[in-house]
Amino acid sequence: MSVILHGDQSSVRCHLRLPAHADWTSLLRQVRRRCRASSGSSSYAPLYCTAGMAAQPPSSDRNEGFLGALSMQVDALCGAYTEKMKQLHSMLDREEDSRERTARQMAAGRALWNHVIHDPLARFLAGESHLRKLQGRMEAACGNKEMAGVMMAVRTLWFDGKIEEALQQWRSQNTSTSSEEQLQPQVILLGAGMDTRAYRLKCLEGCAVFEVDLPKIVDFKSALLKCAVAMASDEHRAPDELEKEPSPDPQQEIPDKDLAPQLYASSVERVAADLATDEWWGKLISAGFKVGGANDRGSPAPPTIWVLEGLLYYLKEEEAMALLRRISSNCAPGTLVFADFMNEFSTHLSNELQTQFYFHSDWPEELLPTLGYARVRVSQMGDPDANFGLIHDSPLSLFHRLRQIPRYCKLAPDGSPCRRLFLVQFSVA
Ligand SMILES: C[S@@+](CC[C@H](N)C(=O)[O-])C[C@H]1O[C@@H](n2cnc3c(N)ncnc32)[C@H](O)[C@@H]1O
Repeated sequence: MSVILHGDQSSVRCHLRLPAHADWTSLLRQVRRRCRASSGSSSYAPLYCTAGMAAQPPSSDRNEGFLGALSMQVDALCGAYTEKMKQLHSMLDREEDSRERTARQMAAGRALWNHVIHDPLARFLAGESHLRKLQGRMEAACGNKEMAGVMMAVRTLWFDGKIEEALQQWRSQNTSTSSEEQLQPQVILLGAGMDTRAYRLKCLEGCAVFEVDLPKIVDFKSALLKCAVAMASDEHRAPDELEKEPSPDPQQEIPDKDLAPQLYASSVERVAADLATDEWWGKLISAGFKVGGANDRGSPAPPTIWVLEGLLYYLKEEEAMALLRRISSNCAPGTLVFADFMNEFSTHLSNELQTQFYFHSDWPEELLPTLGYARVRVSQMGDPDANFGLIHDSPLSLFHRLRQIPRYCKLAPDGSPCRRLFLVQFSVA
């Protein structure tokens, strides 16, 4: 099998020899081993990998292998929890509302899609109940169309790629060596949920990261990450299997050093605030966010990236508009925003997904210029920059079919509603 490893600077193709019914876990294990062998560092990890396997049409044999591996994978993930983590998960299970629940649903997605997204902390943040629910959905969806979670995986990779691209571009333009002229880039994640980019994206080195979410999510996330750090440091004190050379036997379990959370960002500030109200802006500034320009005593505006991933549709229309206006009216021209938008029909999935969706836009490229933005670029799932080898050019693929239908058509030829998720990049005008 041919696998492409995407690092934060480059990609490499390597060939792996896998048994005919290899599961995702053994694939991932081999990929990790290959990374360690080629970089000499056990902490090096690709940002994501795409495998030839993902591009093959579904087959019942492989589905069986996949389901067996999935079940083992979920058992292994849940077996890794400490008592304290389990307590925190069950408190959250009892207390979270439908909006807050989505934070751990996303983490469960990243934990189970770890063959494409390297997020070793996701398992701790998700908790058993969410992993089992997603396992059930993946089992139910397997064998017919897109497996549950592919949309989350593509969306995560799209945001990762855009953040990396923007920082790379900014760094290549800003070659000043004087510390006075060096402005620290800022990345603000609104509705951050259980996002761990500060720990998993190497491109965030040297950046100040701010995460804003509802108080319950911020508190539990901090507590769960503390448990993960404590657990990793206990493991490192244990008699050290970890330093041994990787075993040549691909099936043999190797201890996972990636468990130790390594913060890439210079800092992470978690801000507990309701984004549906005005309070968040002041709290963000108190946490150290720098607006720059006239709103900040004339100081230069640091390069700033706003990440609104899986957020806007949980806000009512007027709340989403106020939030977008707040950013455009306070931030310097050129400030970048990455966000996803649902079209109107997607919000009708509220009942099915047991979550209330509100804000939607069928034409973000028309809406955003009225809110103070320019250079709007809209992508759909499956477009060349939103594919990652996970969405096939096949009539069986829902996203491929949707892309063939012009956007002004609300219904597909079979009469079913076109439900679209747009991945949108834009900047302050
Ligand atoms: C679908 S999750 C996305 C989380 C994260 N961005 C990710 O992709 O993993 C939506 C997040 O938005 C947060 N959220 C929804 N409404 C919010 C509000 N009014 N204020 C702050 N956060 C909110 C939820 O708590 C949840 O963490």
